[in-house]
Amino acid sequence: MPPNVQIRNLPAARFATEVAQLIVQTALKSIAERGLFRLALAGGDSPAAIYSEVASLGDAIAWERVQITYGDERCVPPEDAFSNYRMSKLSLLDRVPIPSGNVFRIRGELDPAAAATEYEHKLSAMAARLGETRYVHDLVLLGLGPDGHTASLFPGSAALEETERNLLPVIGPKPPPQRITMTFPLLNAARQVWFLVNDPAKQGVIDDIAAGRGDHPAGRVRPVTGSVTWLVGTP
Ligand code: 6PG
Repeated sequence: MPPNVQIRNLPAARFATEVAQLIVQTALKSIAERGLFRLALAGGDSPAAIYSEVASLGDAIAWERVQITYGDERCVPPEDAFSNYRMSKLSLLDRVPIPSGNVFRIRGELDPAAAATEYEHKLSAMAARLGETRYVHDLVLLGLGPDGHTASLFPGSAALEETERNLLPVIGPKPPPQRITMTFPLLNAARQVWFLVNDPAKQGVIDDIAAGRGDHPAGRVRPVTGSVTWLVGTP
């Protein structure tokens, strides 16, 4: 494993609570040090329990100093059951006093290329305002698919080879197929990337990545100066 990658095992029964506590701690530290906490949310089904715990624990967070982005989004309207934004809204955003302007929603209801370009411009403008050449997340949360995908970076996708753009429209094997995903350049600019996996069926992929076996997209998340932490639920 590269020196900036670690695996932390957490009790599966307390996974959501323990990860939420770590997120809150990271938020408080980031706001204390830089006046901001820039957090990219993972999509899918499993993060909802974690976000709900963050909402329960998050009274100490100055939410007006938090910026929320999305590692990926499905190309559906925000009220659609497949929307990652909707999942985050129900589990977290509706329960904390975060200003709506601090939530950078990927507009999945638009033409995918237009939505990706719009988001690209939004992140680039914020990065420029902060004196950065590329938007720097304090923390990127990512899930892991059984095929080793993360965000909507799927095996064999041309998006895996992107070296400039922060986001791309893709077609993936996981329904719904049309998505917009952050790319490695943006993910690898982060201070911290956490993979959140509380599913023993995915242990084999984690072991492959830890051993450098195969070419899983999740294994290609390698922050330039930041760190990767695998938070893995264990029975
Ligand atoms: C998505 C996610 C995707 C997800 C993994 C794990 O939009 O589908 O970004 O990468 O994190 O597929 O999904 P589960 O958490 O539902 O297992």
